[in-house]
Amino acid sequence: MISDPPKLPSVAPIAWSLIETIEEIQGERFHLEALPSFEAASAEAYRRLGAWGDAAARDDLSPMFGVIWGAARVLARRLALEVRRGEQLLELGCGLALPSLVAARRGARVTATDQHPDTGALLSRNLSKNGLSDRVRYLTLDWRLPNPLLPAVSFDRVIASDVLYSRELPALVASMFARFLRPGGVGWLADPGRAWLPEVVEAGRVRGLQVTIDVDRDDLGGEAFVVVFTRGAPAGPA
Ligand SMILES: C[S@@+](CC[C@H](N)C(=O)[O-])C[C@H]1O[C@@H](n2cnc3c(N)ncnc32)[C@H](O)[C@@H]1O
Repeated sequence: MISDPPKLPSVAPIAWSLIETIEEIQGERFHLEALPSFEAASAEAYRRLGAWGDAAARDDLSPMFGVIWGAARVLARRLALEVRRGEQLLELGCGLALPSLVAARRGARVTATDQHPDTGALLSRNLSKNGLSDRVRYLTLDWRLPNPLLPAVSFDRVIASDVLYSRELPALVASMFARFLRPGGVGWLADPGRAWLPEVVEAGRVRGLQVTIDVDRDDLGGEAFVVVFTRGAPAGPA
């Protein structure tokens, strides 16, 4: 008989080694606890979990949620310049959620989501450090699963950064933009130029979205692509 793999040991409450860091976006400072580096945290995870499960399962638990990726800074700056007070914003695969913090500081009503079991706890600490605890709600959202937590809701803006690092992700990510963008809303997906970027453009179009690509930069001059998804507003009365 083939038995199921052992259940993954719980990784919450957080036992990761964390460092304190400051991100400055358009003159505003954000204090974050983060993993010291992706490589150091990966080594810690492998020491703790051993060779548990297959590569896909290990990918799910990868500590990539706990470091800021460059594309997040580009997205954060773009939001600082354009987000509107009171708008409803959804972040997908948020990790440390710097863009969500920036949008919340500027008055957006923010829902941050991720699949990693430790993301919510770390985000909660970082929201509290920045006085934003009551401005952002966190929900577990895994794009591969039906999600009862977010029933028929839609958002003015849907955002994500650096989430196209494997073959199945462009279709899943495009589905989330198509599902959660309200008519007339805008989606921004910042990406450092990963191999799967062209696939997300096509995946968005086949799901009925208009798709264009910009190149944008962060406050220090670092660049990323930004895929812009729009869903046309329904035609008004003639
Ligand atoms: C490279 S990290 C980027 C984190 C953050 N957006 C940033 O740019 O700093 C990718 C993130 O996508 C999340 N992710 C990957 N697959 C996912 C899925 N199927 N559903 C939800 N989130 C997912 C991971 O947990 C991780 O937080």
